[in-house]
Amino acid sequence: MHDKRFDPARAARLDDEKRSRELPLAALFERLGDLKGQRWAELGAGTGFATLPLATAVGPAGRVWAVDVEPRMVKLLRARLRREQRFNVETVCAPAEQLPLSDASLDGVLGVICWHELDDRGAALAECRRLLRGSGRLVLVDWLHRDDTGADLPGSGPSNAHRLRLAAVADELTGAGFNVELRRDCFFAHYVAIGHKV
Ligand SMILES: C[S@@+](CC[C@H](N)C(=O)[O-])C[C@H]1O[C@@H](n2cnc3c(N)ncnc32)[C@H](O)[C@@H]1O
Repeated sequence: MHDKRFDPARAARLDDEKRSRELPLAALFERLGDLKGQRWAELGAGTGFATLPLATAVGPAGRVWAVDVEPRMVKLLRARLRREQRFNVETVCAPAEQLPLSDASLDGVLGVICWHELDDRGAALAECRRLLRGSGRLVLVDWLHRDDTGADLPGSGPSNAHRLRLAAVADELTGAGFNVELRRDCFFAHYVAIGHKV
């Protein structure tokens, strides 16, 4: 495991209830419009912080593939999905850079606090392009680099050295063939990047 990757021994921190106040994801999904019946993959799903509101947003007719490279996280997520009786989520233990999902099969790909951790974002972007249908969207939520914000949450999140500058996020998405919309107004200390296939 490299030093950017979240340590599964700290998994309980991901379920800290203050995160729902810092990152009210249900509100973000509402802003994305009606997702009912849609098919989404979630990269770096962890213990399901974003998976559960996404599964609610797509509803019983939709489906979420919750991806994580770390088997211990997938095990925790599976147990949670069973406990909460979520039947529209499938877990996938795989790297975001190489996913066992079909071409043009998804309406959306979501990544919450995982983009800065990936080993090869270029390969992950190529996978997202492959998996998304023409009108599909890539939605990334991650910590703002301190040079891009005056609104940090001290003591939380990854070290600044691991955070990505907004300009770099935009350049990488554009270079991979996405039109990108960057938003800093959805959350206090996190950006949202929405990519549409060009
Ligand atoms: C900081 S955690 C965030 C988890 C969850 N999205 C949340 O917000 O609570 C980042 C997750 O990304 C996963 N991850 C890191 N690199 C990955 C990769 N290349 N492919 C898939 N998952 C990855 C880690 O195992 C970890 O569970």
